[in-house]
Amino acid sequence: MSAGDPTLFAGGSDWSPSSWRAKPARHQPAWPDPAEVEQATKALRDLPPLVFAGEARALTRLLGRVADGEAFLLQAGDCAESFDSSADSIRDKLRVILQMAIVLTYSGGVPLVKVGRIAGQFAKPRSSPTETVGEIELTSFLGHMVNDIGFSEAERLPDPHRLLTAYHRAASTLNLLRAFTRGGYADLSQVSSWNREFVATSPAGRRYSQMADEIDRALRFMTACGVTADNTPQLHEVEFYTSHEALLLDYEEALTRVDSLTGATYDCSAHMLWIGERTRQLDGAHVEFLRGVHNPLGCKIGPTATPDEVLTLCEVLNPRRIPGRLTFITRMGADRIETLLPPLLQAVRDSGHPVAWACDPMHGNTYTSTSGRKTRNFDDVLAEISGFFAAHTACGTWPGGVHVELTGDAVTECVGGSDKILDADLERAFETLCDPRLNGRQSVDLAFQVAEMLSERR
Ligand code: PEP
Ligand code: CO
Repeated sequence: MSAGDPTLFAGGSDWSPSSWRAKPARHQPAWPDPAEVEQATKALRDLPPLVFAGEARALTRLLGRVADGEAFLLQAGDCAESFDSSADSIRDKLRVILQMAIVLTYSGGVPLVKVGRIAGQFAKPRSSPTETVGEIELTSFLGHMVNDIGFSEAERLPDPHRLLTAYHRAASTLNLLRAFTRGGYADLSQVSSWNREFVATSPAGRRYSQMADEIDRALRFMTACGVTADNTPQLHEVEFYTSHEALLLDYEEALTRVDSLTGATYDCSAHMLWIGERTRQLDGAHVEFLRGVHNPLGCKIGPTATPDEVLTLCEVLNPRRIPGRLTFITRMGADRIETLLPPLLQAVRDSGHPVAWACDPMHGNTYTSTSGRKTRNFDDVLAEISGFFAAHTACGTWPGGVHVELTGDAVTECVGGSDKILDADLERAFETLCDPRLNGRQSVDLAFQVAEMLSERR
């Protein structure tokens, strides 16, 4: 990689990995003992990077194709990952994402960029810093990187040693992902076997099986023509990237490294980092930290965002206008997206800033069910994506991707979908640590519907 690489930019002499400390940082835990935080971050600074700068640059280039309207981003995974996830659960989550990617590529007809909310999604901003049950008020659950979900004083006490555990959990998850995506599990000849275990009995599963048969037939044809996994690695391996919300800046700073090849600074905790809706203040610590690292960035954009704010975010986070550097992840709510999104799209389009636009159809559509569970309706999720496509079509811009919360576990957390999960079913398998996630069937179902919207756009 030469210093003339277009994905590199000057960080600015007023930026350093710790310059965020002079700015207000929202949603940081109230650690009981600052000396323990210092000890944990010192240990983190001595540990190897989790991802490598060249990988982050490769993802920036792929996202540049999304910004240019030539590829589609699928960013998906847990709302809050658990330290207790089993290898099977991680594999199943990856499998659902790969299944969705195949559906979108095959039926939607576009190259897919695959990014997991995985291997680091351990910290959560919460609407209230405390939770009260009866007479007892405790710190809210802030993600396994901070505390535990059980409602006792000991479990809810923020513990900085968890920063180190988060690093090691991220490392082992990433190791598993690298093995699965490079070691044959993601081979295109496996597309039908991914389906065998659980979705084959659902309507989306039957549709998937049919598609898998077609892909198998195409692969047999290609093999007969001499195109095989031996001479075409794309048939055998999947390029899969990691991402999480860069929330806890002590952790992110400690994993920031200077790339020996280029001299540029990268946050090596994940390939892509995003700024959450609650921490995207222009004068805040999160924008300050992330503007100086060279990773591809996401930024959530909710209903209160104005065109001016969005344009300033473009200037601050992507001053060199590098395609793929910045992805806006909009999360407006199904009933508001078609009104709120177009002014933002027009402003960015007219400014000439290269932005990849992705739709998070989850976080603007959460409500409390009659049974008291926080849930989302599959139809609202779909309606927001449909409104996202309509807004882009109206503005002549590219609906670049979707960002969804899902799991491969057979949960009942979101209502609706072809299995028609009802309010009364939510109790059966409501397992999330934070927000309600789509299960495997709902996710594959969603992919087919998005693929239809995509093929209509092409
Ligand atoms: C999330 O992605 O889990 C999240 C908290 O989203 P947002 O910042 O958009 O509210
Ligand atoms: Co969430």
